Amino acid sequence: MMKLIKTAGPLSGSIQIPGDKSISHRAVMFGSIAQGTTRIRHFLSGADCLSTIDCFRRLQIPIELHTDPAGETQVLVHGKGLRGLSAPADPLLETGNSGTTTRILSGILAPQPFTCILSGDESINRRPMKRVIEPLSRMGADIESVNGNGCAPLRIRGTALHGISYTSPVASAQVKSAILCAGLYAEGETCVTEPARSRDHTEKMLSLFGAELSCGFEQGNSSGAYTALIRPAEELYAQDISVPGDISSAAYFIAAALLVPGSEVLVRGVGINPTRAGFLTAVEQMGADLTYYASGQNPDEPGVLLGRSLQEAQEALRCVPGEPACDLLVRSSQLSGIVIEGALIPTLIDEIPILAVLAACAEGETVIRDAAELKVKESDRIAYVTENLRAMGAEAVPTEDGMILAGKSRGEGAALHGALIRTGLDHRIAMSFAVAALVAEGECTLDDEACVRISYPAFFQDLSSLLSSL
Ligand code: S3P
Repeated sequence: MMKLIKTAGPLSGSIQIPGDKSISHRAVMFGSIAQGTTRIRHFLSGADCLSTIDCFRRLQIPIELHTDPAGETQVLVHGKGLRGLSAPADPLLETGNSGTTTRILSGILAPQPFTCILSGDESINRRPMKRVIEPLSRMGADIESVNGNGCAPLRIRGTALHGISYTSPVASAQVKSAILCAGLYAEGETCVTEPARSRDHTEKMLSLFGAELSCGFEQGNSSGAYTALIRPAEELYAQDISVPGDISSAAYFIAAALLVPGSEVLVRGVGINPTRAGFLTAVEQMGADLTYYASGQNPDEPGVLLGRSLQEAQEALRCVPGEPACDLLVRSSQLSGIVIEGALIPTLIDEIPILAVLAACAEGETVIRDAAELKVKESDRIAYVTENLRAMGAEAVPTEDGMILAGKSRGEGAALHGALIRTGLDHRIAMSFAVAALVAEGECTLDDEACVRISYPAFFQDLSSLLSSL
């Protein structure tokens, strides 16, 4: 339980955003199946990524974790090559709360010459796994849900695989990545098509490690179906990876600075890969005052100006290899409601809880649709977000594939009041409502705050550093 009250003043100062969760996971996974030592800088040492490290250590990959006094974590993965994983002493591999670990690891384990069982916490063992069981089985994998309910625990008996051409019903990077990883070991080419492009960190990073991939949109339409094709690999090679700040973590501070009047915050080192940055597109449409700078060396001063919009910043960084990142100056802004739908959804799927908080405080209605995936995240995020917003006095209606948020009318005061927040032990619900509490009249109580350790162990310290630098 944690009590939170409305902030007495604006947010100010600067904040360095911790490493991206998706990229940290992948760097450990691909480093483990590559030849040589992969160095990972600015690694996210959240519980989810530590679950990935634990699994690969059990698969007999030596992995070193070094954290300096400033809290920066560097990881060294001593990879043993594409065929270097060994059977764990105990076949049970624990994936904790991590969907990314469970699903992508399934694709890596399916072609190994040994058997494993993947199991996680209560939330993981409720989440749908048929979405990986089905395509991997079509590739020849021997993978089954131990309880026959389409969920983990999953028993994976390693066997030879063959390439397939698979059309996924969901735009999911975890599913796409599981299939592409299995495709590294399969006979022949493997092709995955998804209804809209999900985050492409796997495609980018596997290419960097030496895999042969080609990707593109159907008929060149970037809001339509997207296909990634991978050829079987002989070997992958170790790389130096610098993990950019996680835009999903940055979103909480950007939202807080937008909401609290008089705030001005420099959010540093934020990854703005176009397949991840939909949150910035959405808040710009809502009227956010954002300025983009090249990542500077001085913590309190931004670098060279990149632009006043995400598009300008991405254009300016177009020729930078790897994952683009920048510093963002955020000033509090009057926001208006918008419609969030279609191909934008996969690019901001994890940011919908905090977008809903912003929408509840914005002028006019916001409609979120095409986001049924929210129901099968760490919690049912449609239910938890709308219930908590309602408890705080907002008009929030859940729908089959999203929600409708009435927002407030022109000139109306605080949109939210204090309430008991049920987090469902979901880190993103906890952090979103900690931000909502900053602008709510009265006291909020989070029923759990420890769950932020999943993706952002220092979240509350970092948030208070922006409140106390007044
Ligand atoms: C992730 C993909 C997304 C996202 C999750 C991380 C990844 O899930 O919600 O937090 O690292 O690939 P889906 O692939 O299930 O949409």
